[in-house]
Amino acid sequence: MRSLAMASVAVLVGCGQQMMTVDAGPPELLCDPAVTTPVTLSATVQAQIFDKQCKSCHNAFDASNGDYSDAARTAAAVAKSSKVAPGLKVVEANSLSRSVLWLKLNARKGPAGESLGGVMPPGGALPADQQKLVKDWICTGAQ
Ligand code: HEC
Repeated sequence: MRSLAMASVAVLVGCGQQMMTVDAGPPELLCDPAVTTPVTLSATVQAQIFDKQCKSCHNAFDASNGDYSDAARTAAAVAKSSKVAPGLKVVEANSLSRSVLWLKLNARKGPAGESLGGVMPPGGALPADQQKLVKDWICTGAQ
């Protein structure tokens, strides 16, 4: 009986470790599981991030790097293949490590070590609360 109890404990501990291994990775590439209500482009992210931090450069005058001047154009632009890493999309819903936009905000390379050009915005990384908004948008389906 006692050894059976010990065996159950070992199994439980084993499961816990396995879950930690699956979730392991740098914190900036992990979604926050506590955020389940979708953060959307039209309600939040366009006005708070793209309008303020990005569309001075990302607009119709030079749309080749993505036109982020309103929610409809941003949605279309982020669904495309990335110019700097054509094997990846600009935003891959629910995947921080495969979203070039997120990787550039964090000055990271692509999943296969691809160089992704400069950090965005070029003047320096977004403050943490703004980064979190972009993260929660991508992690809740990028709608
Ligand atoms: C001062 C001008 C400027 C601002 C502001 C700016 N960008 Fe950029 N962005 C560029 C330029 C130039 C490129 C092309 C060179 C490169 O990729 O580094 C680019 C490229 C990108 C790309 C790559 C697109 C692709 O198809 O691969 C993404 C994604 C991006 N920017 C996101 C953003 C986001 C998000 C913001 C706001 C938080 C932002 N940028 C703000 C100038 C800017």
